[in-house]
Amino acid sequence: MIHIRKAQREDAERVLAISAQIWDGNDYVPSTLADWLTNPAGELLVAEVDGTVVSFAYRTWLLPRHAWLQGIRTDPAYRGKGVGRTLSRALIDRSCQDGATRISLSTYFDNTPSIRIIESLGFERVASFVYLERTEKAPPLPATANPGIAEPTPEEVVQFVSVSPYLATAHGWYPFEWLFLPFAARPQAFLEKTPYRIGTRSNGGWRSLLCASPGREDGDAAFLSFLDGDPGDFAALLVQASRDLAATTWESMIPRCGEDVALALACLRRLGFTPWQDGREDVLCYDLIVSRLKGRSAA
Ligand SMILES: CC(C)(COP(=O)(O)OP(=O)(O)OC[C@H]1O[C@@H](n2cnc3c(N)ncnc32)[C@H](O)[C@@H]1OP(=O)(O)O)[C@@H](O)C(=O)NCCC(=O)NCCS
Repeated sequence: MIHIRKAQREDAERVLAISAQIWDGNDYVPSTLADWLTNPAGELLVAEVDGTVVSFAYRTWLLPRHAWLQGIRTDPAYRGKGVGRTLSRALIDRSCQDGATRISLSTYFDNTPSIRIIESLGFERVASFVYLERTEKAPPLPATANPGIAEPTPEEVVQFVSVSPYLATAHGWYPFEWLFLPFAARPQAFLEKTPYRIGTRSNGGWRSLLCASPGREDGDAAFLSFLDGDPGDFAALLVQASRDLAATTWESMIPRCGEDVALALACLRRLGFTPWQDGREDVLCYDLIVSRLKGRSAA
């Protein structure tokens, strides 16, 4: 019998014990658990079997009425028994009760259990990305001539991004770390997530644009959310951004949907960014429109 309930502070020890068994102890949950347990806008649910917490998952809000699910984990000793799916369904139901009209999440392409749960609950794949990182082991960035780098206004950024091939390849979703947001729903959110924005001009307009955010804490990688325009500008923009953000390491999610690939991918690889896979899309973004769930449990 699976019992789902809201997590309490006393569950932290079990949650951490489960997390420690995930990905050789490299799970991010320990770094965020305190926030998950206290954030009034979030909801951490746990699943119990015979009174023992065996699984947990978290919901936060991307935008008003747009929920984001993340961090589902089941104790390896209890996997394949339907706990993960039951918990996911409960999190969807609770999100709907709390006013969600849309629910999204991301997962890795080879996470079969996760994908089976997601797709069986009605989520549809809406975008895909290539995860890239530029570590301290990468060769130094090249010396570049400054192609006339300047700062666009927020309105110019929104205009550039909204009609960019980059956003089209991402089917309208833009990355912020492992979160993905629909740009058109609230362009202001893009500006808030990417406070660093530089570009190059030509013919009175903007030719290229880079949007990024610094690492959250000292030593964290800076995150590149957007890079599009003339590839001839990309190296200089990255060099400038690395300098301004004091970034020694970078992470990025570059849009790719089969043969439709954002221009930035090839260029970033030449600049020492490496994918975990061979450069194919590996991070998948899923979306569920609640009104389409009619007849299912979460309706
Ligand atoms: C994803 C996860 C939470 C699923 O938990 P779970 O309690 O085992 O989930 P369920 O028992 O409901 O099983 C879900 C589906 O995965 C399938 N599955 C379970 N283990 C599997 C495996 N090793 N290979 C392939 N499919 C598997 C199940 O058969 C089931 O699909 P089906 O009912 O269509 O046959 C669990 O695998 C986990 O903690 N993984 C590590 C953390 C992680 O990857 N989280 C997701 C990040 S997006």
